[in-house]
Amino acid sequence: MQRSRLVIAANTLPVRRLDKGRQEGWTTSPGGLVSALAPIARDQEGAWVGWTGEIDVDREPFVHEGIRNIPVKVSLADYENSYEGVCNRTLWPLYHDAVGEPEYHRHWWRQYVDLNARFAETVASVTSANGVVWVQDYHLQLVPAMLRDLRPDVRIGFFLHIPFPPEDLYDRLPWRTEVLHGLLGADVVGLQTRSDTRNFMRVTVRHAGTKASGNTLQYGNRDIKAAAYPISIDTDRIEHVAADPAILEQTKTFRKQLGGGRRMILGVDRLDYTKGIDLRLKAFHQLLEDWPDAYRETVFVQLAVPSRERIAEYQTVRSHVEELVGQINGRYGEIGIAVVHYLRRSLPFEELVAMYRAADIMAVTPLCDGMNLVAKEYVAARLDDTGVLLLSEFAGAAAELRTAIHVNPHDVNGMADAMHRAFHMPEAESKRRMRAMRRVVRKHTIHAWARAFLDDLGG
Ligand code: ADP
Ligand code: F6P
Repeated sequence: MQRSRLVIAANTLPVRRLDKGRQEGWTTSPGGLVSALAPIARDQEGAWVGWTGEIDVDREPFVHEGIRNIPVKVSLADYENSYEGVCNRTLWPLYHDAVGEPEYHRHWWRQYVDLNARFAETVASVTSANGVVWVQDYHLQLVPAMLRDLRPDVRIGFFLHIPFPPEDLYDRLPWRTEVLHGLLGADVVGLQTRSDTRNFMRVTVRHAGTKASGNTLQYGNRDIKAAAYPISIDTDRIEHVAADPAILEQTKTFRKQLGGGRRMILGVDRLDYTKGIDLRLKAFHQLLEDWPDAYRETVFVQLAVPSRERIAEYQTVRSHVEELVGQINGRYGEIGIAVVHYLRRSLPFEELVAMYRAADIMAVTPLCDGMNLVAKEYVAARLDDTGVLLLSEFAGAAAELRTAIHVNPHDVNGMADAMHRAFHMPEAESKRRMRAMRRVVRKHTIHAWARAFLDDLGG
């Protein structure tokens, strides 16, 4: 097997399979992580280990756009017990403040251990002597230690894209020691925020006997760096798309379709119960109740990407959101005029940017979120410094986007008041706030993020 000096391991490969009926082959997946890591991996003739998204399909490694893709076979049992079970029904709700009820099942856990072991073996077989491996996210928390056992010569980094919970929540996890042992196999553990980093360091002291000093954890005879590396976006790309005259035309078309001079609030999320879409809709409803005359001419657009649809909590949040959309339109809509426009689908990136440009107010109100890239994308798209961002204080992005209007997503009346305030904000103030946020996303890009982490890792 050919070996690479830089290897990335993630739940999914940076490619997805084109529809069989149309064309064989692969296309690069959208998203910031892929666009940041792909050029680095390409330059270093790197490899990417991950799942193709297909169940029970064995595939040979293949090169796509200069990156060696190393597929890990995922069986139906892996998918159901490890991905849907441990990842999305145990760890996802537990790490997101238990806003959903986490479930703990031993047979799920065994499959997670087994799949992590197969990832570690695959990574070990494709990494060159003294190479560098960067493991991504909560699906692969055991890989660092498993890999260290197999390949003590390599440098290992781990980055967690979701929050790390405070100790009283983390302590509920029946496999809390195993997970920490897994993560502490890394040389550098990256988290989204300083508060996640503090949470992580504290539980390692308590359950793994580490000694913490500054950003260093002493674990046995090794020193591990634990630090915040807030992930970001490809700001140049968004600015470039936002400045395209065709996108401006699309923006005007959207506005016309939404009713000419009507003011618009936008929400853009995966359809996930952590995103607070239902409470946000209730806040909009409250805004209309409190000031019916002032907001008769306002529309709310909610774009929601279907996600993890076989899981009951995701079906419930979908029904709840759709019921609320119906209630608000039933109460405030007119024949031919909806007040809430709800699209349950993914939009092409260009159209999404045109939507960002069209929105007077962007409402990003998750109950808990590792970072939230949508908030940063909206800011990057506002080339003329107009627009107001309402941002949950429980999103990682709130630590950086300090001049957004911060809201408590549990406080429906407070959010309705914040929407009202946003609509009445003097232009000088909204521009000053947006300019400050644009400076943040221009400086802290996804490229700077990847470079900072890899520099610390020695990659
Ligand atoms: P999460 O990783 O939990 O889904 P983020 O806000 O960090 O949340 O990232 C979501 C990503 O999905 C963003 O890059 C955003 O542009 C993209 N996205 C969200 N909604 C849509 C949509 N309707 N169409 C296309 N892309 C979307
Ligand atoms: O934000 C965490 C994350 O797992 C991302 O890595 C991923 O893009 C998103 O949630 C969607 O998750 P899934 O891959 O389970 O659809």
